[in-house]
This record gives sequence, structure tokens and C-alpha cells, in this order.
Amino acid sequence: MCGIVGYIGNKNSVPIIIEGLKRLEYRGYDSAGVGILEDKGAEVYKREGKVSELESEIASLNLDSKIGIGHTRWATHGVPNTVNAHPHFNNDKTLLVIHNGIIENYSVLKKSLKAEGYEFVSDTDTEVLVNLIDTFLKKGKCLLESVRLALAKVDGTYGIAAIYKEEPDKIVVARKGSPLVIGVGDNENLIASDVNALIAHTNRVVYLEDNEIAEIYQDKFSVKTLLDEELKKSIEEVDGTIEELTKGGYPHFMLKEIMEQPESIRNSMRGRVVLKEGSVKLGGLHGYEERLANSKRIIICACGTSWHAGLVAEYMIEQYAGIPVEVEYASEFRYRNPILSNEDTVIFISQSGETADTLAALKEAKRKGALCVGIVNVVGSTIARESHTGVYIHAGPEIGVASTKAFTSQLIVLSLITLLLARKKNMSFVEGKEIAEAILELPDKVQEILNQNDMIELVAEKFVKANNFLYLGRGYQFPVALEGALKLKEISYIHAEGYPAAEMKHGPIALIDEKMPVVFIAPSDSVYEKVISNIEEVKARGGRILAIANDDNGKIDELVEHTIKIPSTLPMLMPVLSVIPLQLLAYHIAVKKGLNVDQPRNLAKSVTVE
Ligand code: G6P
Repeated sequence: MCGIVGYIGNKNSVPIIIEGLKRLEYRGYDSAGVGILEDKGAEVYKREGKVSELESEIASLNLDSKIGIGHTRWATHGVPNTVNAHPHFNNDKTLLVIHNGIIENYSVLKKSLKAEGYEFVSDTDTEVLVNLIDTFLKKGKCLLESVRLALAKVDGTYGIAAIYKEEPDKIVVARKGSPLVIGVGDNENLIASDVNALIAHTNRVVYLEDNEIAEIYQDKFSVKTLLDEELKKSIEEVDGTIEELTKGGYPHFMLKEIMEQPESIRNSMRGRVVLKEGSVKLGGLHGYEERLANSKRIIICACGTSWHAGLVAEYMIEQYAGIPVEVEYASEFRYRNPILSNEDTVIFISQSGETADTLAALKEAKRKGALCVGIVNVVGSTIARESHTGVYIHAGPEIGVASTKAFTSQLIVLSLITLLLARKKNMSFVEGKEIAEAILELPDKVQEILNQNDMIELVAEKFVKANNFLYLGRGYQFPVALEGALKLKEISYIHAEGYPAAEMKHGPIALIDEKMPVVFIAPSDSVYEKVISNIEEVKARGGRILAIANDDNGKIDELVEHTIKIPSTLPMLMPVLSVIPLQLLAYHIAVKKGLNVDQPRNLAKSVTVE
């Protein structure tokens, strides 16, 4: 979602903030702004569009300030335009605030502020917040205290940063439900909503927790609770290099991340597969393995692509570990009254570790006594920290908004968890070893598929003009069909639906004609013959068919327009392979349509609002 960056130190804050905003732009990108304190007062520069457009606009102004805050926005309240972009001023133009999240009671607050004489130029809830803080400044309170008292009146979520002309030596930040991290430098400090924006300057960070507020000076910082209790926070060191955050010669992050998958899935399994025991070792679950294996039920909660990974896990865990599994959209789970007990385990899957719905579901499950396991990519993210236990997927930073390498790494970790549970239950050493070996072979097999990129690009060319797509698969391939359709929708804006292949007869078959491409994911598994029958049904109705099949399978070639061949593996692991051509297909179609694949319209990488 929106991104926040701030700097205070000896250097010019403006280029540092712009650079940081660019690194956060994948989170939200409809408008951007920078606010600084200068001798003459507080100044704001903002505009609709991308950070690079803001950068060009202010280039000739030679701005120089040792303190500043910046924001890249994904609109929640008010259309994406320059007026609604952050930072926002108070009426006196002395105080600047940027804000991620949603102030739920903003209309009530706005009404009472209007009654006090405040005027509003934007449609945002943030402008309400900045003027609310102003009411306390007017009563003689300092910035920190004014922010704290204002937030006590606010319902909703926020990650905020404020700078004030009368106290130019500090940035005040606060957090509830929207991530904020302090970067501790050498005679300089930074703040950001994501470590990616800080890593070029420091790897020493302090994560703010919910209901915490901090005062950041050039050479020190202090943190307290919103109830005014002093806190002692520890500084953590984060891994990661700036190279991981650049495109490395690829035209888009998405392509880089697709191509990186042999390495990213290797990292997900590194040191975790114990062949000689036919099992796995997952340090993150240490001490919780028995409780997990003895769960009466496992519920998997996630959103988007992570939810699709959860669906694959349902098939795997039920097949091999014999534990009943339910997969829930986090957004639905949190708003009903889920029946949970301490005999249940809830697994939360999230690339970012910050998705608001998944986090809220986690809090609810924790409250009800279930064991909460996080499967997260971003180290130190909120879901990772709030879970009782968990496993990092170690896919490395994923910047492209459409998730690719995180999905395959999630599948790897879920297969490792399946193996762990199955071996604790009834699975034999021989079967365990067979699965472990098959997992270790996956990186090379993924590479074999990536080597067909040029051919997949040619296939994409033939489908660029389609307006609708159907993706069909059965068993382990049903979630892959959903994921393939989601990738295409997200970045090419072509309407696409994923369906279980056999369900086609109950509706989608009515849509099939010569204009409707149908992608069948049809590896040689136990339902292969049945999928072939479904292909015949589509062919009989003139549909254009593209198939993903195994290279040992000639039969399908006679029936379809194109086949993309993938290597064989165990059915439970096949989604790691079958999704790769679908990622490349979506990528090439979107590029050929001239679209911005890394930053598709209306989407955000990390959805930190409900
Ligand atoms: C957004 C992203 C998706 C992602 C989903 C869940 O919609 O655009 O790519 O799958 O959020 O995000 P999470 O970080 O929780 O996996």
C-alpha cells in the first residue's frame, strides 16, 4: 500500500527521500510528495503520478533540507490527484503529516474541526488528522504530545510521520496497524514503512509495534506507548543488499523475479531437507512440531496468490499427513465468528507479512487459543512477529506487484511442512526420502522451463488480442488454474477465470467459442485421462486450446493449438513447475500490450488497509 520515508541528519534529505520512495513505489503509486523544513518554513512538493515525475518536477528547484518526509500513495480516501497527495498541511501551514491507513471516524472529526473553523482542501482523512494534531499544538503542547493526544481520538489504522516548523530537530512517528521502522544511522536517522527504503543507508533497524510513538532526532530516538509509558527498544540488524532491490539487467522486476526462481526456491529449502532421515528440519517450528502434528484441524488463512498456495497445501497435507485442512480468505475469516480451539492450528501465508486482513485474522485466531504459524517472506514483518511460530520462505525481496517467486517459495515451504507432519504421522522413511529427493530436484526442473522463455513469448504473441481466458485444471492443478488466471488479470487486464476442469460443464462451457482461449494444465497424473475428455469437449466447441503438459506425453499434442512441455515430478510438487509457464505467458502478453507489468493499475503490493 502507501509508502513512507523520512530523513533527519547532515545530508540533503530530498534525494534520499526520493530514492527511498522509488524503492517503495511497488507498494502504491498513484501520487507522491515530499515535505521539508526550510529556514522560511515548511514546504510541500507533490503531484499525481509516479515518483519519477515528482523528481523531474522538483529537479530544477535545488531543494536542500536536512529534515524531510515523503510519501507514495495508493488512494483510499479521495481520488488520486495532486491535492489529495501527501504530505498534508494544517491550516497554518506549519505542520506536515503523511499517513498510511484509514481513519474510520474521520467524518465525525472533520465535522467538529469545521465547527472550530478549520478549512479543508482535500478529500483525505489525513488532512483531518493533521488539523486534529494542530488543535493540541494550539493548546501549547509539544509535537510528540499533540500527536499522541490526537491519536487517542482516532479510530482506525495508521502509520504516520509528522514534522513541525516550530520543532525542526525531530520527526514524530506512530503506528497502529500500518508498518513503521526506524533506520538507525551514524549521526543520521531514517524512518520508513518498509526496510527496503532504508537498506541503502543502514541495516540497523527498530521496528515500531502497534500503539507506539517515537521521536526521531539526528543523533538519538526515543519510543513510548500511546499511553505515555517509556519503552526500551532493541536495535536489530537486517540482511539484504541493495543489489537485491535492482532489476539486474532485466526490463522488469517481474521478469527478474520469474527468472530468479531456481535460486529463490533453492534458498527456501536450503539446509532444511534431511535426506538421510527422509524428513526436514525447520528451525522456526522448533518446540511446536508435536502440537502442529497433533492438530485436530489445520486452517490456512491468506489473501490473493498466498491463498492459492494455501489451496495447494490443503491437497498436500490431507493426502500425506491425514489432517483435515480448511482454506479461508482472511478477509472472510476475520468477519465471521470462526469456531476455533487450542486443538486447531491456523497457518497464515503472506509474502509481505503486512496484509491487513491476514493480520486481523491472526489476532482473532490467537485470541481464540489456536496455534498460529506464519509463513512469511519479509523478515521482521508484523505477521512474522505476531505468530507463535513460523517459517520464512526466504525468497528475497519481491518488488513486482504480481507475486511470482514468493508463490513458488511458499509451495516449497508448505511441501516441507507436509513432509515434516507426514513423517511424524504414518509416512515411511522410503516415501519420505522419495519426496525429499523430488523437492531437491525442483530448481533444475524450473530452470528447464525457464529455458523455453523465447518459445513461450511466441505463444503469447498469438493470444494478445483475446479479451477473455479460461484456465482449467483438476486436483493439484486447480489452484494453479486460479493463479494463472489471476496473473493474467492483474497485469494484462484481460478477463480470466480459473475453474476446476470438470466444473466447466456447469457453466463456463457456455462461453466457449473460437474467440475464447482455454489453458489446460494437464500433467500426467491420476486425473489426466479425465482432463483429456474435458479438452475434447472444448475442442468440439471450437475453443482455442493451450496446454501445459509433461514432456513424456504425446497424446495431448494432437488435440491442442500449442503445448508447453514441463518436466515430471510428484503430483504434490507439480504446481511449482506448472505455474512457471503461466507466469511467463501473463508477463509476455502484458508487455506486448504495452502495459506496466511491475505496477499494474489500481493494485498494490502490500494491502495494509481492510
Ligand atoms: C496483494 C498483492 C498480491 C498478493 C496479496 C496478498 O493483492 O498484489 O500479489 O498475493 O496482496 O499479499 P501477501 O503479502 O499477504 O501475500
